[in-house]
Amino acid sequence: MRIVVLGGTGHIGRLVVERLENSAQAVVVASRRTGVDAVSGAGLASALDSADAVIDVTNAPHPEGEGVLDFFTAMTSRVIEAELAAGVRHHVMLSIVGAERGVPDGYFAAKAAQERIVADSRMPHTILRSTQFFEFARSIAEWNTTRDTIHLPSTHVQPVAAADVADALVDTAGGAATDRAIDIAGPERMPLPAFVRRVLLADRDERFVVSDENVQTRGFNIASADLLPADGAMLARTTLDDWIRQPVDARTGR
Ligand SMILES: NC(=O)c1ccc[n+]([C@@H]2O[C@H](COP(=O)([O-])OP(=O)(O)OC[C@H]3O[C@@H](n4cnc5c(N)ncnc54)[C@H](OP(=O)(O)O)[C@@H]3O)[C@@H](O)[C@H]2O)c1
Repeated sequence: MRIVVLGGTGHIGRLVVERLENSAQAVVVASRRTGVDAVSGAGLASALDSADAVIDVTNAPHPEGEGVLDFFTAMTSRVIEAELAAGVRHHVMLSIVGAERGVPDGYFAAKAAQERIVADSRMPHTILRSTQFFEFARSIAEWNTTRDTIHLPSTHVQPVAAADVADALVDTAGGAATDRAIDIAGPERMPLPAFVRRVLLADRDERFVVSDENVQTRGFNIASADLLPADGAMLARTTLDDWIRQPVDARTGR
């Protein structure tokens, strides 16, 4: 099989590419660094030539800033059109659990719009919606730090190892398109402050983490958001403790 990994130079993309290369699949790593711009379309047709499947793990260059909606909508429309022209048989998109439930955040709204473009298209597809990666705890901490204290609501999350999501993306791309969305999550549910505290402690980060139900993150109250996977979600195996026990280089991809 020939599989194009769009965003194959990114965090999750590199894990996907590594797995495909280890399984001796023909892999095309497509991103601006390899001469493919999925927004302008430059290099896209030649990257997709003879491809069986595309795994889309791109991200907007500034995920916390303006332009995220424009990025995901323009990029996805362009990619779907190019895939149909090239005769690609399966578009696999990585989304985020909660996107379809209207979490009131610009990033989630952009992912929901991206999902709609894929679902409404003629392109055979599968959407994999992931919960927060273990690796994402640091970003959550940075957004919510005031001096040396991190304020987080005690809402429950079910984070997952990015490596397990990469495995699931590779398996999905190797199978037939389902034209459906499926959630993937880690094996354990925990309060958000406990998740972030555990990761920071492993890195000897001494900041305090306190529960605060009123905190606004990126302009909305996470306490009101349902970030848990739907019934029937795919459950990954790696626990947070398993992940933390890995050497720092393996765990962070550095
Ligand atoms: N972090 C989480 O907890 C989480 C949870 C659920 C789902 N996800 C999803 O995972 C996906 C990937 O996230 P990530 O953290 O791996 O992203 P990342 O490390 O920022 O990588 C983004 C990739 O997109 C490529 N890219 C950006 N603009 C492009 C363009 N115009 N054309 C082609 N490629 C472009 C980048 O390469 P170049 O710069 O070379 O173009 C890079 O390879 C996102 O869609 C996100 O919604 C993340």
